[in-house]
Amino acid sequence: MGMWRMPSVSEAIRRRISVRAFKPDPVPESLLREILEVARFAPSGGNVQPWKVIAVAGAAREAVSALAKQAIMANPAGEEGDRPIYPANLWEPHRSWRFKVGEDMYALLGIPREDKPARLRHVARNFDFFDAPVGLFFVIDERMGHGQWAHLGMFMQSIALVALERGVSSCMQEAWGRVRATLKRHFGLGETELVYCGMALGYADEAAPVNKLRSDRAEVDEFARFEGF
Ligand SMILES: Cc1cc2nc3c(=O)[nH]c(=O)nc-3n(C[C@H](O)[C@H](O)[C@H](O)COP(=O)(O)O)c2cc1C
Repeated sequence: MGMWRMPSVSEAIRRRISVRAFKPDPVPESLLREILEVARFAPSGGNVQPWKVIAVAGAAREAVSALAKQAIMANPAGEEGDRPIYPANLWEPHRSWRFKVGEDMYALLGIPREDKPARLRHVARNFDFFDAPVGLFFVIDERMGHGQWAHLGMFMQSIALVALERGVSSCMQEAWGRVRATLKRHFGLGETELVYCGMALGYADEAAPVNKLRSDRAEVDEFARFEGF
């Protein structure tokens, strides 16, 4: 933290990574509020701002973690209301990207492909927010369409970048979608509301091997075409 320097937007985008091991140092409510004060200026089509956030720390964080771990043990395949995170039979090149980042992560963790129980134990760490002191849940109304889901994503990335500007790391966590029914009950959400995604927020444990993971990206020419330049 001592050497922290405020990154440019480009640096922040390059430097943001999914952190999966955190130090216990707290993220105070005032700092989280500061982050949300900025991130709320994320764009959304028609300015509908189709997001709600539930932030948990301390006892509230413990409570939701405990509930989620119980729920996932009872329903390892995910609860009813779960939506598949990826399309069935994901195709190339997306399939290979997904496979590679998973293999790279488990290699850093020293967990071989065959060791399914160890892999599952790592997945379950999502429900401890990887020990981050703060967890966020992103709530959307299921009456919203694909556009609004995309806009929620912009809001989430804005939070991750503003957090980074303040030295706070993050991991977005779709894993929480597997316990959607439990979360809905626990937080008393409206009939049409659901938790899309979680996010762990805190200070990265730089020494943890899993945080050495640097995911690859396709080259610009693999996904972009340029016409009329
Ligand atoms: C919406 C969203 C949900 C994600 N959910 C999870 C998750 O549940 N658990 C996890 O470990 N990583 C999760 N990730 C992290 C991705 O695996 C990661 O962003 C991707 O591999 C690229 O790596 P990077 O974030 O380090 O650049 C999620 C990312 C996004 C954008």
